[in-house]
Amino acid sequence: MIAPALPDADLRDLNTLHLPARAARLQPVDDATDLPSLTEALLQRGERILVLGGGSNIVFAADFPGTVLQMRTRGIELLAHDGCTVRVAVAVGENWHDWVGHALDQGWYGLENLALIPGTVGAAPVQNIGAYGVELVDRLERVEAWDMQDRRWLDLTVADCAMSYRDSVFKRRLAGRAIITRVVFRLSTRPEVRADYADLQRELAACGVTSPTPRDVFDAVCAVRRAKLPDPAVIGNAGSFFRNPVLPADEAARLLAAHPDAPHYPATDGAVKFAAAWFIDRCGWKGTRRGDAGVHDRQALVLVNHGQATADQLLKLAADIQASVRERFGVDIEPEPLIVG
Ligand code: EPU
Repeated sequence: MIAPALPDADLRDLNTLHLPARAARLQPVDDATDLPSLTEALLQRGERILVLGGGSNIVFAADFPGTVLQMRTRGIELLAHDGCTVRVAVAVGENWHDWVGHALDQGWYGLENLALIPGTVGAAPVQNIGAYGVELVDRLERVEAWDMQDRRWLDLTVADCAMSYRDSVFKRRLAGRAIITRVVFRLSTRPEVRADYADLQRELAACGVTSPTPRDVFDAVCAVRRAKLPDPAVIGNAGSFFRNPVLPADEAARLLAAHPDAPHYPATDGAVKFAAAWFIDRCGWKGTRRGDAGVHDRQALVLVNHGQATADQLLKLAADIQASVRERFGVDIEPEPLIVG
């Protein structure tokens, strides 16, 4: 039985920035096999469709005049266990952090560095979530999705997903047409930890841990995130509001000649990734507050809603930040969340 759609639905509690917005209809999806008939009926009516997971990477800049599909499907299925590898399929409505904790409890390792990222499993492939030295693409096997444009089920390999830093095919060719239904992970039953990220090393050292287990890494990641990033349940935010800019080698060299202390990391093909937070911080924005729209006081990359901020206020603040970084450093920084409307 398909749950009835809710008309004129309030989206404020369905987006972690807690921005005020309404959808003409909110349609819960509890069974992925309902998607073909559901989407077909909506498209026949010429209706716009937006897929929502945990709402942690979205800015509602206006009301949504169509149907929001709220993906609520649950389920974790062990598909295969061979040697030291497990393959596990997870339904998109599962909470991301709960899944990471569950995998760890089962002795399925590899997701510890991605602990405490807000949102659902289904949102993870869209922006190829990443933190503390690990990206989703490193642990991904396949993605299953319904293509509402071609009216067929997709079974995408990692290569098909075309993932790179905070990017994937779901933001490009398949944007607005593929609805992700299950994510298949390839995890290890043999502990292999990645703890080279400076913040993690500091936290582990402070706890006196010298040879960390996956559980130690999980705990350290949670501690670092709790110390630096605002909890969306307490203060509205969408994580990093900007992507870290990746510059070609020649531009990077020019920038580093002028600003040798700018934090940077090697990217592919000689390109260099810079820390947007550092640029924003250097422009003096950290902790700024304009009404209820602000910049987090412990991580300059995170914009926050202290309570009653509107999307206009938040986007104006973001635009002013972008302009000042461009003026001072000649670098363009781009918003990370999907901006709707
Ligand atoms: N920095 C500042 N000022 C600040 C914050 C950071 O100068 O206010 C400097 C730090 O000193 C550091 C550098 O910027 O040298 C990088 O900071 P950090 O390690 O906190 O990471 P980030 O690049 O700002 C990225 C991800 C985060 C992820 C962390 C850890 C993006 C857009 N963001 O942030 O992801 O948790 O690395 O891996 O890539 C998210 O996407 O929502 C998110 C939180």
